Amino acid sequence: MSTENKKEIVLSGIRSTGNLHLGNYYGALSKFVKMQDDYDCLFFIADLHALTTNPDPEALHANVKSILAEYLAAGLDPDKATIFVQSDIPEISEMYLLLNMHVGIGELMRTASFKDKARKALGLSGSTDDNDAAFEHQIIGAETNKRVNAGLLTYPTLMAVDILIQKANKVPVGKDQLQHLELTRRFARRFNSFYGVDLFPEPESFDFGGKPVKVPGLDGSGKMGKSEGNCIYLIDDEKVLRKKVMRAVTDQGPTEPNSPVSEPIANLFALLELTSTPEVVQQFRDAYADCSIRYGDLKKQLAEDILKVTTPIRERVNDILADDEYLRKVLASGAEKARERAAKTLAEVRQIMGIRKF
Ligand code: TRP
Repeated sequence: MSTENKKEIVLSGIRSTGNLHLGNYYGALSKFVKMQDDYDCLFFIADLHALTTNPDPEALHANVKSILAEYLAAGLDPDKATIFVQSDIPEISEMYLLLNMHVGIGELMRTASFKDKARKALGLSGSTDDNDAAFEHQIIGAETNKRVNAGLLTYPTLMAVDILIQKANKVPVGKDQLQHLELTRRFARRFNSFYGVDLFPEPESFDFGGKPVKVPGLDGSGKMGKSEGNCIYLIDDEKVLRKKVMRAVTDQGPTEPNSPVSEPIANLFALLELTSTPEVVQQFRDAYADCSIRYGDLKKQLAEDILKVTTPIRERVNDILADDEYLRKVLASGAEKARERAAKTLAEVRQIMGIRKF
């Protein structure tokens, strides 16, 4: 344990809002798997964060289980990393209350993710930058059937607590979460300086080095994302997966040698580069360059190569989902490890803030 503590602490969470797709796999999960040996890793399922969008209770419960199974099937190892469910750590909820006393509603209201989600909750479209005053007015005046809940507003506090309660040093997150991480750093500094303590390290975003992986979707533009409907899920069966790939958007095909590549085709090549061998990629690049390429062949190859990655994961997911005993064991030991550290930090926070025994 003491040698383990010398390693840097890496923590990341994922909201339990749906199945994991190839973008999650290459963008995050496959990297988490590699990090397990070099860092003191904590990976968790952010089910309390998922509650901010008021999911159906059955769906929430089922999602926690399926994401956990997908995490494990993709190679996260409970013997190496601490894997847990956020709501299993009650210390997080208590510290969330305490930290909120040092968080401004103004800074929360200005957070981009809040504005986006509040707009969605109110059924508004449009950019997050226009007319803040009218927007704030709408939030305050909203009827209960179209309301912006306080959990949505304090989402960054909860995320900061996830990170600070474990005193994490490095947080691997996507671009969309960097603002939350910046707030976490600010809250840590503020707490330390308000109480004149040096309790929280300022967490940094984890830089994987190299160029960032782009995992495009199948609809011709943009990245793969569950809200975009252009996803290949890790648990898609062979038939579904092949069908999705064969339906991917393409173009008319090159008519002149060495033509530039359009975005839909560049996206298919990007997926091929992630999943295939360099030789196969080169073969299709050459065929594109001399106009002999047939997109049907490219897609068939792509589907096969993606299946080579996803099939073993899907099979393990199914085995794990059928083994409640194993899942319970993994979560019990993850929660125990995560709670031990969280309880220690919470005790320090309470002491510092003046909540003390007589
Ligand atoms: N907000 C993150 C997301 O939507 C999930 C998350 C919750 C998280 N708590 C975290 C990520 C702590 C990193 C660290 O992706």
